[in-house]
Amino acid sequence: MATKKHTAAVIGGSGLLGKHIVSGLLENGSYDVTVISRKGSDESKLAPLVAKGAKVAHVDFAEQDSLVSALKGQEIVISTVGAAALAEQPKLIEAAKAAGVRRFVPSEFGLDSCAPGIREYFPALGYKYAAQDALKASGLEYTFIITGFFLETQFTSVFYWDVPGGKVTVKGDTTQPFTVTSLVDVGRWTAEALLDPASKNATVYLVGENITYDEAVKTVEKATGKRLEVTRASKEELEAAIAGAPNLWASFVDLLLRAISDGRGLTVAKDKAWKSKAHPTPARTLASWAPTASFQAADA
Ligand SMILES: NC(=O)c1ccc[n+]([C@@H]2O[C@H](COP(=O)([O-])OP(=O)(O)OC[C@H]3O[C@@H](n4cnc5c(N)ncnc54)[C@H](OP(=O)(O)O)[C@@H]3O)[C@@H](O)[C@H]2O)c1
Repeated sequence: MATKKHTAAVIGGSGLLGKHIVSGLLENGSYDVTVISRKGSDESKLAPLVAKGAKVAHVDFAEQDSLVSALKGQEIVISTVGAAALAEQPKLIEAAKAAGVRRFVPSEFGLDSCAPGIREYFPALGYKYAAQDALKASGLEYTFIITGFFLETQFTSVFYWDVPGGKVTVKGDTTQPFTVTSLVDVGRWTAEALLDPASKNATVYLVGENITYDEAVKTVEKATGKRLEVTRASKEELEAAIAGAPNLWASFVDLLLRAISDGRGLTVAKDKAWKSKAHPTPARTLASWAPTASFQAADA
C-alpha cells in the first residue's frame, strides 16, 4: 500500500533558495509540493518546478483570505521569501494558523539567528527575529533551519569575489572558519530533516563544510588553476567601511564579514550539525564544485 505523502507548501518557492527547497522535497518522495507564488509573478520561474511535479497556488499577500485558502490542507509551510518580504512573515504565520497548518518553517537559512546574544550583536536581522517570536507565540510547530552561507552565492561579486576576473577582496580576520552549505544540500537536507522527529520545535543546523577565507582562496586557485590577486582589508578598515555606509543595506555584506571575523553566528561546529542518512556527504563542497563553477550569483 502506498504511504500517504505529507503536504508541503513553499512560499516563494520560485526564488534563489526556494527552487532548491522545492526540488529537495520532490526528490525526497515523501511530499506533495505546492509553490505559493504572488499573483502576477514571473511564470517562467515556476514552469521548471511544475515540470518536476510541483503544484502552484497564486496568492495576494495583501489579502489574508487568499493566503488562508491557499494554505488549507497543507501540513507544513516553508517560507523561503527573500529580504523584500521578510516583514510579511507574521502575516503568513497567522494565515497558516488559520488554515490549520501543523508546522511552519520561517525564512532563516543563513546566519545563526538563534545563537545566544545574536539579536544584540546583529540587529539587522530584526524581521527574522520578529518572525521567530510570532511563530513561537502562535502555538504552531516550528523548525528554524540554519545553514551558514550558500556555497553558490558566497564566492561571487556580492562578497567581493571576482573569480572570472582573477581578483578577490577579503576583509577582517581571514583565518576564522565559517560555514558554507550548498543550495543543493540545503534543499535535500531540509526535506529529510523535516521528517525527523527531532526537528519539531527545534533549530536544525545544516553544515556543508567549515572553511576560512584564506583556505578558500587556495582551494579556488587549485581547482581552477588560476592565480587570484587578493586585496586585504584589516579589521579597522572593515569597521570604517561599516561606519561610513550611507544605510544599513549598504553595509549588510560588511556586517556579515565582520560576523565571520568576530566568530559570531556564521560558524556552526560540525558536532552541532544535523546528520543526513540519505545524503551523508555534501553534494558539493568548494573543492568539488569550483572546477566547474561560474562564480556568478545569477547561476545559483
Ligand atoms: N545563507 C545565504 O548565503 C543566503 C543567501 C541568500 C539568501 N539567504 C536567505 O534565504 C532566504 C530566501 O532568500 P532568497 O534570496 O532565496 O529570496 P528571493 O529569491 O529574493 O525571493 C524568494 C521569493 O519570495 C517571493 N516574494 C514574496 N514577496 C515578495 C516581494 N515583495 N518581493 C520580492 N519577492 C517576493 C518571490 O516569489 P514569487 O514572485 O513567486 O511570489 C521570490 O521568488 C532568506 O531568508 C534569505 O535571508 C541566505
